Amino acid sequence: MIDVHKKVFKLDTKNTSYIFTLSPQGHPIHIHYGSRLPSADVEALRLKNNITLGSTVDYAPGYCLDSELLEYSGIGKGDYRHSPIECMLPDGSFTTDFVYEGHRVTQGAYENDCGLPFAMGGGETLTVWFRDTKFKSLRLFLNYTVFPECDVIARNAELHNGENGEVAIRKFMSAMVDLPESDYTLLTLNGSWAKEAHIQDSPVSYGIHVNDSAVGASSNRHNPAFLLKKTGADELQGRVMGFNLLYSGNHYSAVEKTNQDTLRAMLGINPHCFLWKLGYGEKFVTPQAVMTFSEHGINGMAANFHDFVNHHIIPKHFRNVQRPVVLNNWEATFFDFNRRKILGMAKKAAELGVEMFVLDDGWFGKRNNDRAGLGDWVVNEKKLPSGLGALAKSINAMGLRFGLWFEPECVNPDSDLYRKHPDWAIQIPGREPSLGRNQLTLDLTRAEVRDYIVDSVDKVLRSANIEYVKWDYNRHISDAFGSTLQNQGEFFHRYILGLYDVLRRIFKEKYPHILLESCSSGGNRFDLGMLCFSPQVWTSDDTDAMERLDIQRGMYCFYPPSSISCHVSMCPNAQTLRNVPLSTRFNVAAFGVMGYELDFGELTPEERRQIKEQIEFYKTHRHTFQFGRFSRYFPKPGQRESWQMAGNGEILAAIYNLSYHAIPTRDTLRILEAKPGKIYRMKSVPQKLRINRFGGLIKHVVPIHLKADGLVLRFADRHFAMTDGQEDYTCSGETLRSGVNLAMQYSGTGYGKDLRITGDFGSSLYVVREEA
Ligand code: GLA
Repeated sequence: MIDVHKKVFKLDTKNTSYIFTLSPQGHPIHIHYGSRLPSADVEALRLKNNITLGSTVDYAPGYCLDSELLEYSGIGKGDYRHSPIECMLPDGSFTTDFVYEGHRVTQGAYENDCGLPFAMGGGETLTVWFRDTKFKSLRLFLNYTVFPECDVIARNAELHNGENGEVAIRKFMSAMVDLPESDYTLLTLNGSWAKEAHIQDSPVSYGIHVNDSAVGASSNRHNPAFLLKKTGADELQGRVMGFNLLYSGNHYSAVEKTNQDTLRAMLGINPHCFLWKLGYGEKFVTPQAVMTFSEHGINGMAANFHDFVNHHIIPKHFRNVQRPVVLNNWEATFFDFNRRKILGMAKKAAELGVEMFVLDDGWFGKRNNDRAGLGDWVVNEKKLPSGLGALAKSINAMGLRFGLWFEPECVNPDSDLYRKHPDWAIQIPGREPSLGRNQLTLDLTRAEVRDYIVDSVDKVLRSANIEYVKWDYNRHISDAFGSTLQNQGEFFHRYILGLYDVLRRIFKEKYPHILLESCSSGGNRFDLGMLCFSPQVWTSDDTDAMERLDIQRGMYCFYPPSSISCHVSMCPNAQTLRNVPLSTRFNVAAFGVMGYELDFGELTPEERRQIKEQIEFYKTHRHTFQFGRFSRYFPKPGQRESWQMAGNGEILAAIYNLSYHAIPTRDTLRILEAKPGKIYRMKSVPQKLRINRFGGLIKHVVPIHLKADGLVLRFADRHFAMTDGQEDYTCSGETLRSGVNLAMQYSGTGYGKDLRITGDFGSSLYVVREEA
C-alpha cells in the first residue's frame, strides 16, 4: 500500500514500512526502513540535524546535505559521501542538484519497454520526479513498486534529458539507501568457477566496501545480491535487510560507513567502462533493484526473497510448476558419446524414474572437444546419424522428455560461423583478441548477430521435440568493442540488452513452454535478470556434496530452492576426488531442483536400487523441496548444519556433518517451522551404507574371516548394503522447536540397529508430518 500525505511518502508491505519525505528545498529525505509502522511519525523518526558541523558546506543556512539521510543524492552541493549519479552536464560541470517536481501512484508493477526485464505483478507503483536546479529540463525519476505479500520493494531510476545539450552519464545507480545507524555486517557471495557463492561476512567499517563485477556477466566472483545484518542478527533472529538487482551484466554495489556513523548503500550498473550519452529527448532507464527487510534473521529475509522470485520473477508458465528430475550426460561422457551410448544411458534413467534426459555439449558441428564447432548449430551426424528428431523420439518412447544444451553467445575460431563472419566476434580492430576456453564471444550489440542466434536456435528447436534448454555461456568478455557502436561506453550494457532481446524472442515469444536452465560455467550468471527468463540455473560445476553445502548455503540467502539446480554425481568426485556417501549426495541435492549427472550403468545394482528409492522419495516430497519455506541453522557451528523445508503439512529436515570426530558430539535438532499447538510425527528416512565403506573393519561384524578386497566382499558390496538406524518420534510442535535429541552416531564401538552410521561426510534426513 502506498500513501502520500503532505509530502510524506509511506510505502507499506505486510510487515514493513518504507518512509521518506521532502525537505523544504525539495530534496528527498529518507525517514525509515524497517518494521511496519501504523503511521508516518516523521518528527520522531527523522534523523535530527539541530546544528551544522564544522568543515561542512551548507546548502542553505542550517541545512547541510552531508548530514541528511537522502533518498537519492547528487554531486557538488555539499554531500561528500559517494554519489549514486555522476554525469557531465551540457556546461561541462558535474554538479547535479535534483529537487522535487511531482509524483504519481499507479496500480500494478512498473513497466518500461527499454528492453530490461522487470518484476511482474506488484501491488502499486510510486513515481517521484525531480528536476535539476540549473538544467530544469533534466529530470530524475525514482520508481518504487511494492510487493506487499513478500515484503519486497523494487526500485529504479530514470534520467530524461529535455535539454538542448548532451548529458554524459558516467555512473547511475538504480537505488540508494541511507540508514541512521552503521552497526551492520555486510554479507556478500564471493567465489570463482566451481566455488560460487561462498558467504563472506564483513563488519561495515569506515570507508567504502564495493561488491562488483567487471567480467561482462553478473559473475561467480561477486553475486549482485548482498545483505546487511544488524549487530546481533543471525540466521534465526534479528534485523536483516537484503538487496538484489535484476541485471545480468556488470553490477556494482557499495556500502559506505560515513564520518557521522550513518550508512549509505547503493546498487546498480557498474560504472566500469560505462559512458552513456543522452541527447535531447533521450532517456536512460536503470535496472530494477529490490530490497526486503525482516526482523526474523537471515531466514526471514531469505523467505521474502524466495516468495518474491517464485511469484514475481520466474516466467508465468513455470510458477509453482514442479521441475523435472533430469539426467544430464556431461560429467559421464564429456564429448565422447554416440546415439547408442545416449540411448543406453536414457534407458537406465527411465527405469529408475528420471523424467528428462538432457544432452549436453558435443552434439553439433565438429564438436569433439572444446576447441572447435561452437557456433555451428547443426547436428553432428557422426555421433547422431539419424539426427535430433529421431533421438528425441526414441527418448520420448522410453517415457522421458528430452532437453538440449546450447551455448549461442560464443564461437570457436575453428568453426564455420567464424570462418564466414569473423567480424561477428567481439574484438578490437588492430588488436589480437584473447580467448577464453578457446572461444570468443559474439557481439550481441549487433542486430544481425542476434537474428542469427534466434534463427539457428529456433531451427534446432523446431527439428525435435525439445522441452528443456540448457543455455550456457562459458567465458568472460575481453577486448570489449561493439563494431557498430559509436560510443564504446555503451558496450557492456548493450550486450546485456542484446542478450535479453534474444532470450525474449526465443523463450517468451516462441517457446514459452520450454523449460530454460541458464548456466554460465555453473553459477557465473546466477542473477534475477536471468531468472526472469529461466526458472532455474545450473548452480555450479562443482557437484561435490560437501562443497555444495558451501555453495547452496550462500545461494539460499537470496534465491529459492526451485531455482537452484543440483545434481548427484559420481564418486570420487570429479572436482575434489572426495568420496561422499550416496545418501548425503542426495540429501544435499534434494534441497533444490534435483537431478543426476552420471552413468547409471557404472553404478552397482545396489546403488541403482537406492537411486530408484531416492527419486521416488523426491517426487513424493518434491513440492515441499522446491517450493516450501526454507530455513537453515548451525546446530553446532563448524560441526553440524541443518537445512529444512516446510510446506504441504510436512517439514523435511536434514542434518549434515561438517566435520566428524571420534566420540561424535550428540546432536540436537530443532525443527524451526514446527507450529505450536500441533502434534507431529518425525521419522528418519531410511538410508543405506555401502559395505566397502567399512573396508577391513567388516571382519569385526561378520563371524567368518573375509578379505577386505576379496571377491566375496566385492560381490556383497555390489548387491547388498547395511542399514542405518531408524528414529521415530511423536511429539508436540513446541518440543520440535525446542529440539529433539537424535540417536548417537557411530563411534567405533559397534554397529547397532539404533545407531546413526553417518561417518565423515554423513547426514541424516527426517520427514516431520503434522498428525491429523
Ligand atoms: C560448462 C557447464 C557444464 C557443461 C559444460 C559443457 O562448463 O557449466 O555443465 O555444460 O560447460 O561444455
